[in-house]
Amino acid sequence: MQKSSIDSIRQNFNEMVDRFTNIETGQATAIDSPLCMEIVAQTAKAMCPEAQTIMDLGCGGGNYAVKMCEVFPNADYTLIDLSENMIREAERRVSAATKGAVKAICADYKTIDFGYQKYDIITAGTTLHHLRTAQEWESVFGRVYDSLKRGGLFFVNDIVIGETPEIDALMLEGWKSVLRQNVPGEVDFFLKKYETEDTPQTLNYQLDLMREVGFSQTSVLHKHFNFATFVGVKLE
Ligand SMILES: C[S@@+](CC[C@H](N)C(=O)[O-])C[C@H]1O[C@@H](n2cnc3c(N)ncnc32)[C@H](O)[C@@H]1O
Repeated sequence: MQKSSIDSIRQNFNEMVDRFTNIETGQATAIDSPLCMEIVAQTAKAMCPEAQTIMDLGCGGGNYAVKMCEVFPNADYTLIDLSENMIREAERRVSAATKGAVKAICADYKTIDFGYQKYDIITAGTTLHHLRTAQEWESVFGRVYDSLKRGGLFFVNDIVIGETPEIDALMLEGWKSVLRQNVPGEVDFFLKKYETEDTPQTLNYQLDLMREVGFSQTSVLHKHFNFATFVGVKLE
């Protein structure tokens, strides 16, 4: 099936800002969303307590960056998102939550230059499943690695596909049960969106790719049905 284009993804998210601007509830369609944000923030604080430069890829309304401001209230934040409406709201919220500088960039992270050894921490919350080809996954992970400082951390929270069709089907059923609880009445809408818009990868594919591009360590921090949170550590 032909998946939706970058313009249609941008348009979709331009109309959904309200769903991505509450850190108490997080994203209703993502499993354990507030817990995962908490895990990322606490792990970041424990592993990189002096972090000063943080980038949030596909930041949406800024939930991950706002959460990071709770533990790094003086850090500088770079926010990247395709959607003009999302990035505007993220910039407003993060500017109110940090004493550091905020740079908001409305762009496609598949092609933008992230720079070299600039960031202590990079987060990507439920966004990389929009990558399509192996070349796109490799390019984003490679540029993330290059743009991290030594000791830097790359956190991913995302939907993942199962390693086998059987496991995938089971995990999908689990997700449907969560959708029925969290967004009753919209389950079919979100499953349709998943089918037409998303191209997730397996958890192992992403952990292996982290290692391939240079990350020395990887850790799974949380996994529930078809959602996972994990981190790559750049030691060299
Ligand atoms: C499901 S939302 C998640 C937002 C936020 N990270 C969160 O956890 O609340 C995915 C976001 O990724 C953005 N996005 C998708 N593909 C992108 C790309 N290639 N470049 C930049 N942003 C992208 C979308 O515009 C959308 O705001």
